[in-house]
Amino acid sequence: MATLPAFQFESLSVPETGAAVLFVDKSLTLGGVGQSLDEKSGGAIGRAIPAADFKGDFCKTIRILAPAGADLDQIVLVGLGDEALSERDFAALGGAAMGAVKGLKSVMVVAEANGKEIDAATASLIAMGMKLRAYDFDLYKTEKGKPKEAAKAAKVTILAADAEGAANIWETDDAVSNGTILARDLVNEPANVLGPKEFAAKAKALEELGAEVEILKLADLEKLGMNALLGVAQGSVRKPRVAIMKWMGGFNDEAPLVFVGKGVVFDSGGISIKPAAGMEDMKGDMGGAAAVTGLMHALCQRKAKVNAIGIIGLVENMPDGNAQRPGDIVTSMSGQTIEVINTDAEGRLVLADLLHYSKETFKPRFMIDLATLTGAVIVALGAHNAGIFSNSDALCAQLSASGAATGETVWRLPLAKEYDKMIDSKFADMKNTGGRWAGSITAAQFLKRFVGDVDWVHIDVAGTAMDAPKTEISQGWASGFGVRLLDRLVKDNYEG
Ligand code: BES
Ligand code: MN
Ligand code: ZN
Repeated sequence: MATLPAFQFESLSVPETGAAVLFVDKSLTLGGVGQSLDEKSGGAIGRAIPAADFKGDFCKTIRILAPAGADLDQIVLVGLGDEALSERDFAALGGAAMGAVKGLKSVMVVAEANGKEIDAATASLIAMGMKLRAYDFDLYKTEKGKPKEAAKAAKVTILAADAEGAANIWETDDAVSNGTILARDLVNEPANVLGPKEFAAKAKALEELGAEVEILKLADLEKLGMNALLGVAQGSVRKPRVAIMKWMGGFNDEAPLVFVGKGVVFDSGGISIKPAAGMEDMKGDMGGAAAVTGLMHALCQRKAKVNAIGIIGLVENMPDGNAQRPGDIVTSMSGQTIEVINTDAEGRLVLADLLHYSKETFKPRFMIDLATLTGAVIVALGAHNAGIFSNSDALCAQLSASGAATGETVWRLPLAKEYDKMIDSKFADMKNTGGRWAGSITAAQFLKRFVGDVDWVHIDVAGTAMDAPKTEISQGWASGFGVRLLDRLVKDNYEG
């Protein structure tokens, strides 16, 4: 993992060393600590604003180097724009601030907007945005091109009116940041390093945070009859695993929330092999499993008052002499038979057995699965919304609200019997592809055949978890999408 800054919270004061960060809107009025800093530096801030043509636009920054009269290395102004700011905006502002001070040893962030105090929760959100922005995945860059560790490991002090309140909230937000960063790390790791066994070990490590983790191996999966999942794995020399992570922080008799993740550590397509161009991206085909693991990390670390179970199917989809063939028919754990038309539609085969197993074993309050399931969802929604599919309007509404709050937004796509018909098979109960059209929906219809009447949402994160565009809080290829979304869903609706 990349070296990340350490955060601390202190009461409001005028920063004296290091870099100081101030937030101002388009009125460009300083006030409060900013005013004092400006006076101390002989009006350096007031002069720099027009000189740098800084207008206070949202997330725009200027840097004033070595201001006279102060012992500061620099003063950074971050623009608030002139519109009402939501939670996700404050995280983005933290990200923008980190972008301007990255690599500095000591950063003092003044939690004021135009000199008016920022509340504790918002101060913590700024820290979260900063931490997520500071992440990069440089594990495999050898020393030469790599920034010096010491310079990168900045100390960030947030100066806030309610420093104690902010520090308390940060304990929770930091757990969620760490979960997001864990998910990013898992997705960014190459498949030669992170196979099913290695991923399972990362899940097992959650025991250090108080989770109860069980790893099912090949013989266990055979015994359970998870033949749909096993069919995908059979072309790889690396054996599959299923990891079950339990956090029982709720009441004894409370039905658990179950999160299911697609963990295809590499998806070559199998015998229906993918084209060479871009195939390297398929190391990220475990983005769903990574989000589930990151979420469980967050819930454990922040000791969420909820019963939650994460279950991930870890397999590699490879072509070899023992690989599954198009035309093969497998009997899933549920007893339903599946004709494998295309071995590249493997994610749904993995999830089918996990969903059935979860429904039977855990008697869940709901099941939410996350999967980099279809290229078609990228065609439909790009990188800015995950597709959701569900049998529960209420759960969709909750998820949409969590998406809007965190910025990990989701958009619902339909399910209907006309789409379901598209996966009927001539030879078996169903086939694993539904043809060219509505590819994300027919994939979801396939999953729906394994959830029974449990409340369920499928989140297709193919466009959002990996190969993500740069944002103020995510600079890397992996975004960690899903961790903040689902943590928020739990926090707002299912705790205490
Ligand atoms: N892992 C892919 C989907 C994917 C594509 C994820 C691009 C991330 C980026 C999935 O297993 C897959 O290959 N889906 C096929 C399904 C088709 C064969 C019915 C697809 O989307 O083309
Ligand atoms: Mn595939
Ligand atoms: Zn896949």
